[in-house]
Amino acid sequence: MTDQTAATDWSRWLDRWEAQQGREMPDREERFAAMIDVLVDLCGTAPHVADLGSGPGSLARRIIERLPGARVTAIDMDPVLLAIGRNALGDMGGRLSWLDADLRSRWSAQAAGPVDAAVSATALHWLKLDALAGLYRHLGTVLRPGGVFVNGDGMALPATEPRLAAAALSIRNRRRAPAGGSSESWEQWWEAVDADPGLAAEVAERNLRHHDHPDHENQADLAAHVMLLRQAGFAEVDTLWQHLADRVLVAIR
Ligand SMILES: C[S@@+](CC[C@H](N)C(=O)[O-])C[C@H]1O[C@@H](n2cnc3c(N)ncnc32)[C@H](O)[C@@H]1O
Repeated sequence: MTDQTAATDWSRWLDRWEAQQGREMPDREERFAAMIDVLVDLCGTAPHVADLGSGPGSLARRIIERLPGARVTAIDMDPVLLAIGRNALGDMGGRLSWLDADLRSRWSAQAAGPVDAAVSATALHWLKLDALAGLYRHLGTVLRPGGVFVNGDGMALPATEPRLAAAALSIRNRRRAPAGGSSESWEQWWEAVDADPGLAAEVAERNLRHHDHPDHENQADLAAHVMLLRQAGFAEVDTLWQHLADRVLVAIR
């Protein structure tokens, strides 16, 4: 792995990740900033945070850069994204740690102690409803009493509002950067990863671990998230930032 590490431009891969995610979500930076605002208000400037579905650490890194005392455990099960994050960001002066774990498992057994907050960006729509319910129950054992969960993700409008849901979707699609622009699409980014010999070991492991995630029609909507969080014992749950169906849903234990 040493030769491979030397040959792979991890920082460049991280930059390309940020560019393609920004293309998919023009409001990504604004949503990250709103999530960190919530963290500061409810947990102060030195929280211990778990980033669920961290990818290569995009949100974890922004939290550490903005909050001088924050520590983050970045949790993901994708070997490609973990390798990019670990190699491009390292441990950020001992404030960032990485955990290779499946959010559908009882991952806290491996994580360090109770945390003040759990955050997640553009990740939990990958979980089916039963897995989401299990994760929210599990957060009860991971968050300290009064701890906070901050989830930035697409959470569809309810089926009772079909024209509003369709309008939200078409406005979102119009606002996305057009195909053929300077940054890659999600599919182009992964095609490029597959073609880089320096990432071959991580790609092979990723293929072994592949798991299906719900298609857009079967993702949990806002009502499902709120219901599951309340069932899991969260005391207050509401949206604190929203653009169309993209929200920052915040819950306090
Ligand atoms: C679109 S990426 C977002 C990554 C990062 N939060 C960001 O905003 O750039 C979704 C992430 O969720 C992770 N993920 C999905 N299902 C997971 C699971 N069951 N366990 C751990 N991570 C998961 C994926 O591996 C991927 O890194």
